Amino acid sequence: MIRRLAIDGYRSIRSLVVDLGALTVVTGANGSGKSNLYRSLRLLADCGAGRVVPSLASSGGLAGVLWAGQESIDPAVRAGGEAQGTRRKGPIALRLGFGGDDLGYAVDLGITASRSESLFVRDPSIKQEHVFAGVEPRPAATLAERVGPLARSRGDDGWHELSRTMAEWDSLLDELAGADAAPEIAGVRRTLRSWRFHDALRTDALAPARQPQIATRAVRLDDDGANLAAVLQTTIETRADGTVERAVRAAFPGSRLEMVDEGGGLGLALRQHGMLRALTAPELSDGTMQYLLLTAALTSVERPGLLVLNEPERSLHDDLLPALADRIREAADETQVVVVTHSRSLADALAGTRIELERSAGETVVAGREGPLDVPAWRWPSR
Ligand SMILES: Nc1ncnc2c1ncn2[C@@H]1O[C@H](COP(=O)(O)OP(=O)(O)OP(=O)(O)O)[C@@H](O)[C@H]1O
Ligand SMILES: [Mg+2]
Repeated sequence: MIRRLAIDGYRSIRSLVVDLGALTVVTGANGSGKSNLYRSLRLLADCGAGRVVPSLASSGGLAGVLWAGQESIDPAVRAGGEAQGTRRKGPIALRLGFGGDDLGYAVDLGITASRSESLFVRDPSIKQEHVFAGVEPRPAATLAERVGPLARSRGDDGWHELSRTMAEWDSLLDELAGADAAPEIAGVRRTLRSWRFHDALRTDALAPARQPQIATRAVRLDDDGANLAAVLQTTIETRADGTVERAVRAAFPGSRLEMVDEGGGLGLALRQHGMLRALTAPELSDGTMQYLLLTAALTSVERPGLLVLNEPERSLHDDLLPALADRIREAADETQVVVVTHSRSLADALAGTRIELERSAGETVVAGREGPLDVPAWRWPSR
């Protein structure tokens, strides 16, 4: 399980450390930083997929996503005064990390040392990476580390050099995941690659989920929901415990799913009370599609290491929220889940570990924290 999450310097998140539960619900007013938290988690997952540099580049490089306020906020600014530029004490950095039951990972991204001849000066540079045992980075718990071009791992008999030529755009997780001396690197990569994110699943008239699909088993929902029917049918056949059927009945009493063969493809239909024929995917409402997509994501045969949903309540009427909350809570028995939501009724129905975000002097903070003692421990390795 992922126990702790730390983010530094990402958009409105100047410095945030939060503890996660089996089910964590993130709430807060518009603009409080919920989506920024969601995006920073995605970025962390991108590190495991070797995509963090291109992913940042597509948001305008490091400069486009760095915290735009003061490095540490003056009390005068907290009291409502204007922010003035001050001389930085630390380096310009975007740092992301997580700690878990067995392994943790922390990455420190900075700006490229100026090479005026390069056309890629906006690419961030990976300054440091640490793989450690446990919930927070500690020098004694470090299992592998990368500092600039040097990478090494710790064995029973001390440190082993892994590389002295790491490029600033290469991640330890990508380059050295095969290192026999450091199986933990592959462990962190596997963890990050098992995270799944669902944000703005498409339900519009042209949504991929409304089109017939190739009939082939599918153990996880595609990002765009295109394989919805195949995922639901695979879950129905594989789990054989009625989970999907129950989910449909709970939301739409008297209805049941029917998978139909559409010229060699697989199509989804819902037989509803009072209808002479089942209604096919193009005919179902946005809310119905949204609920079925979420049900597919939450019950799919392949269980993700972490499932993160951003605003799952989108296009759902309040009446459907209790059924959605039930699906999420059931999923959280098997998979760690983070739900970012605007909906107070969904948050209340979910219970779980609640993180309420708010903004103070422009920065995203956790509501109700009185002082530094309320912040879970996390010390970034210094550059
Ligand atoms: N580089 C940055 N530095 C500081 N603050 C930023 C930066 N980029 C964006 N923000 C702030 O972050 C806030 C947006 O946060 P986010 O999108 O996470 O909000 P949200 O809680 O998801 O809101 P909503 O409920 O409206 O979706 C904006 O108010 C914006 O001012
Ligand atoms: Mg948002």
